Amino acid sequence: MNPAPKRRRSRDWFDTPELYGWLRVAALRSQGLMPEGFQDRPIIGICNTWSELTHCNAHLRQLAEAVRRGVWQAGGLPLEFPVLSTGEFNMRPTSMLFRNLASMDVEEAIRANPLDGVVLLSGCDKTTPALLMGAASADVPAVLVTGGPQLNGNWRGEEVGSCTDCRRYQTELRAERITEADWNELQGCIIRSAGHCMTMGTASTMACLAEALGIAPPGNGSTPAPDSRRLQLAESTGRYAVELAQRDVRPSQILTQVAFDNAIRVLHAIGGSTNAVIHLIAVAGRLGIELRLDRFDELSRSTPFLLDLKPSGRFLMEDFHYAGGVPALIAELTPLLDLSAPTVTGRTLGENNLGAKVWNRDVIRPLSAPIHTEGGLAVLRGSLAPGGAIIKPTAATPALLTHRGRAVVFNDHDELNQRIDDPNLDVRPDDVLVLRSSGPVGVPGMPEWGYLPIPKKLLAAGVRDMVRISDARMSGTAFGTVVVHVSPESAVGGPLAAVGDGDLIELDVPNRRLNLLVEPQEIARRLAEAPKHPPRAERGYRWLYAQHVMQAEAGCDFDFLRARRS
Ligand code: FES
Repeated sequence: MNPAPKRRRSRDWFDTPELYGWLRVAALRSQGLMPEGFQDRPIIGICNTWSELTHCNAHLRQLAEAVRRGVWQAGGLPLEFPVLSTGEFNMRPTSMLFRNLASMDVEEAIRANPLDGVVLLSGCDKTTPALLMGAASADVPAVLVTGGPQLNGNWRGEEVGSCTDCRRYQTELRAERITEADWNELQGCIIRSAGHCMTMGTASTMACLAEALGIAPPGNGSTPAPDSRRLQLAESTGRYAVELAQRDVRPSQILTQVAFDNAIRVLHAIGGSTNAVIHLIAVAGRLGIELRLDRFDELSRSTPFLLDLKPSGRFLMEDFHYAGGVPALIAELTPLLDLSAPTVTGRTLGENNLGAKVWNRDVIRPLSAPIHTEGGLAVLRGSLAPGGAIIKPTAATPALLTHRGRAVVFNDHDELNQRIDDPNLDVRPDDVLVLRSSGPVGVPGMPEWGYLPIPKKLLAAGVRDMVRISDARMSGTAFGTVVVHVSPESAVGGPLAAVGDGDLIELDVPNRRLNLLVEPQEIARRLAEAPKHPPRAERGYRWLYAQHVMQAEAGCDFDFLRARRS
């Protein structure tokens, strides 16, 4: 690839007659390092989202040690630094509110410091996109390694996945088919080890897509967190980072349009998270690449769904790993991918995965006999979503993918919680549940409220799925006939704000339609009369967020963070 750079970036910090050049060496010596031991080495930052508030990333200090070994082995100087860690369970109202903040932290930490390269350590849902966005903007040589998925959960002999089965059993608890004691016992089994959720949720999806993008090494997507091969992988990223720094290979040379197309194909083949659409668009936007929703749909039409993992299927990430992981899947997708794409290993995507085999055909289906002939995600448009909306047909009820029903509208999440289990709620199994005021500006932050609960009285009647529509997101681990990311969101005047109880809604996934069956003039009249959304924050980061966040089809990034086209 690139010849070695004439001069390392980090030398600008040290080769200066100013006092601070001398002080920077003194600062390294204060940490026990001798100048003769580090002077000629490229400096490799280990950008760590470790936090005990992010349980999925709580083991990343151990991984950082392995990275450190790899950096020293290859002749670099490793220096670890922390960045904001966005824990999925703890952060309120949603970790998504802080993804952009974390990305700014990453970008500026890399840019401000004497780093020749960086290893990005992530795991939980938003940490991987935040690191990729920040590293893409900084454009200093970078390689990503994630913490890996948890081992399969097991409850009473049944393999259970976080958090697909948490959601399924919570529904059974509400339907009074399991007891509080059962529910409490499950709590102790569902997260069995270190690592991130081991279904094909957002964390697993982004870890697999990073591998397909070429910014993470082969094996990154599926190697379990406690597996010794995860540490070996981390050690190798330390070596790769030094090599990338020596050759000055930057993220912008890896994360190209071709790489994004490869990642979108893999996203469809694995039945990945709806959130990945937002995150890929955001990462691409940092590099001046415009990923349109229509591109996702175009590639969905021609990419078969191959991977039988929860929430769309039966298995878990550990099974995927034993079946061959992303390398085997990439080998299976060979005719659909551009295998000449460069990667952080110095080899092409094809060279990385040469000879990879599928070891379990129940988990990874052959291209010739897929689970579905089309991909895991579909883009919908229509009078209810002129800017687009997303559904995961592989995790939906097939009979509901073409459906017309009466709208039952909830104005916001609080109202949903108050009314959903009201015995007097006028709701039937073939109705369409609608939630608004839950988009990027509306909350703010676009929480994962799109998986609306089924009303208790319908649960008692045996109903387990309904069409649900919102401007919110949905957890990658969730399932059902759930339409999310409706754009424009209701808080900025999208048609979702015009839906009234009893209006007819048409969902037609095969034809990619989502329509509010109300006359356009009436929709316009209702929107003109709809109450304006008051700003929720008057100062600080939340104010900045509400002022500058873009809609879902633009990746929910801040307008001022996208790359300038020039
Ligand atoms: Fe971190 Fe699921 S809570 S990936």
